[in-house]
Amino acid sequence: MKNKITAFAPASVANLNCGFDILGLAIQEPGDEVTVSINNQKKVRITSIKGDNNRLPYNPAENTAGVSILSLLEELKEKKIFDGGIDIEIVKKMPFGSGLGSSSASAVAGAVAVNTLLNNPLSKEDLLKHAMAGEKAASGQEHADNVAPSLLGGIILIRQYNPLKTLSLPIPPHLTIAIIYPHIEIKTEYARKMLPSAIPMNKMIAHTAHSATFVAALYNNDLTMLSESMKDIIVEPVRSKLIPCFDTIKNIAYNFSDVISFGISGSGPSLFFLFKNKTQIETITEKVQSLFTQNNIQSTLYISHINKEGAKIL
Ligand code: HSE
Repeated sequence: MKNKITAFAPASVANLNCGFDILGLAIQEPGDEVTVSINNQKKVRITSIKGDNNRLPYNPAENTAGVSILSLLEELKEKKIFDGGIDIEIVKKMPFGSGLGSSSASAVAGAVAVNTLLNNPLSKEDLLKHAMAGEKAASGQEHADNVAPSLLGGIILIRQYNPLKTLSLPIPPHLTIAIIYPHIEIKTEYARKMLPSAIPMNKMIAHTAHSATFVAALYNNDLTMLSESMKDIIVEPVRSKLIPCFDTIKNIAYNFSDVISFGISGSGPSLFFLFKNKTQIETITEKVQSLFTQNNIQSTLYISHINKEGAKIL
């Protein structure tokens, strides 16, 4: 058994417009790293956190990676597999409140690192509920559309909550995703509280049609159908008000033929652009980033393929 393990878990784009809380995909970079080792104190301790500007709590019960690990250790204790202490080192490489699943990445990396350290007593799928517990500590509610893709890779459908069931969807070849993260912070908890608690029947029908069509489009590798399905008639109209220049950027995006879809990544403010190929990426992203600059907002660009692998050991 190795005495120190580091896991990396990637960022993810949740919702994908037509699947609030039920669809998400993993990207290659950025992501978080968590290193774990066994201590002889029989305690779970966070011994170091880097890259967080002193924002994250060292109390494991208040920290997403800590909560995920505590939850996992609880199961291992019940199953009489492990009853010792763990030291945790966290390296945050992702911005907070960016809509890229930052808290999920830490929660996933923590669970994967500990499971590997202890010789994989649980399957990757079994780790999901523990990573979700960590996510809940950050966003106030359990949702798996960031943790599942970050852990498993690819494009994931949450088929069911309680008990959690996921499905890896087919990934069309050559898709590229560009993400622009404007440097403003939106807390997921806040962005969830804004949402309506009920939606009218006609919207429910249209939304369900979009989600179902999304799945069919992936199984048929039909990018036109995919593009038609990736629409958000429920959440985007509410949350887009939090993102400067959103409507202008949406108009820019859909003026380019290579854009399959544009929308808010997770709870924002990051924006995602899904491309058929790479030819128009630079032109669009330059336009959007200069628009943010004109509005005195700094932004970061990430360009990635869909990450098929998910979390990994470094
Ligand atoms: N589905 C979640 C939400 C994802 O939109 O609130 C958060 O990243």
